[in-house]
Amino acid sequence: MKLLLLCLGLTLVCAQEGNSDVVRSNFDIPKITGEWYSILLASDHREKIEENGVMRIFVEYITLLENSSLFINMHTKVNGVCTELPLTCDSTGEDGVYAVRYDGRNVFRILEVNYSHHIIFYLENFSDSYKLLELYAREPDTSPELKHKFVEICQKYGVVKENVIDLTQEDDGKNIFRILEVNYSHHIIFYLESFSDSYKVLELYAREPDTSPELKNKFVEICQKYGVVKENVIDLTQEGKSLLPGAREWSGLGLQFGELCWRRGGPGFSTFQKH
Ligand SMILES: *[C@@H]1O[C@H](CO)[C@@H](O)[C@H](O)[C@H]1NC(C)=O
Ligand SMILES: *[C@@H]1O[C@H](CO)[C@@H](O)[C@H](O)[C@H]1NC(C)=O
Ligand SMILES: *[C@@H]1O[C@H](CO)[C@@H](O)[C@H](O)[C@H]1NC(C)=O
Ligand SMILES: *[C@@H]1O[C@H](CO)[C@@H](O)[C@H](O)[C@H]1NC(C)=O
Repeated sequence: MKLLLLCLGLTLVCAQEGNSDVVRSNFDIPKITGEWYSILLASDHREKIEENGVMRIFVEYITLLENSSLFINMHTKVNGVCTELPLTCDSTGEDGVYAVRYDGRNVFRILEVNYSHHIIFYLENFSDSYKLLELYAREPDTSPELKHKFVEICQKYGVVKENVIDLTQEDDGKNIFRILEVNYSHHIIFYLESFSDSYKVLELYAREPDTSPELKNKFVEICQKYGVVKENVIDLTQEGKSLLPGAREWSGLGLQFGELCWRRGGPGFSTFQKH
């Protein structure tokens, strides 16, 4: 009888865990790796997360290092320019708790995670004693219910809802870009249409620092087909630097992207986020 009850009890415990995708302890860290999107950002010191605030940072992806530290690739805006921000976060030994040096010593912890869906981090800068909460999702946006739940969690941690910033509403948001053509060992042409600003950007990247006049001419023709006059095509081979932080292995000929940040997307598409 006792044994039967024990079995029944164990079954119930297991069934309960199986039902809930949301984990709040005993984190399976390899499962938090991969691509994430910043959805909501909150702080009791709002200036930290406002435009040009030091903690207004956007996640790109997380990888797990051999020494069980996390590598988190972020981007931020420095003097108006989108800048890559790689962070190495060392495990503290405590479940889901990491330490990172970024303008001071910060310790952050995972509050909850649904590995295939979302993750919530809580960060404290001990010396400065301010708080930061972050909601990341696997998709570029998430449900109003989850956002609402995040706001409630923030309030529990002493951050008022006025200090929760929705990064999906940020500026003119996301832009989709499409690969027009690619010769993998040679060149690639991108087309970007910014929906809110309604301007177009075309880009030619090559594997070598420069490319043939024929290919450049072909690119100009493609631009014209997309309504961009040839006077608006800028040759960047003279500038000696690539346009985008994510595109280091390609050299660029095309129009300036300015502060656009590059996000990867599905096959043939990628998304840009303008900050
Ligand atoms: C873990 O490895 C990374 C990358 O090699 C390094 O930057 C970091 O300092 C290491 N952390 C610890 C605690 O050893
Ligand atoms: C966890 O994520 C999956 C999608 O990956 C979703 O279907 C499910 O509803 C989520 N569970 C909770 C409790 O948010
Ligand atoms: C963390 O606190 C230190 C000491 O007060 C401060 O210098 C630093 O700017 C803070 N870090 C951030 C990211 O605000
Ligand atoms: C593709 O690139 C290779 C050089 O890497 C070149 O030899 C070849 O002609 C290119 N093909 C086309 C169709 O442009």
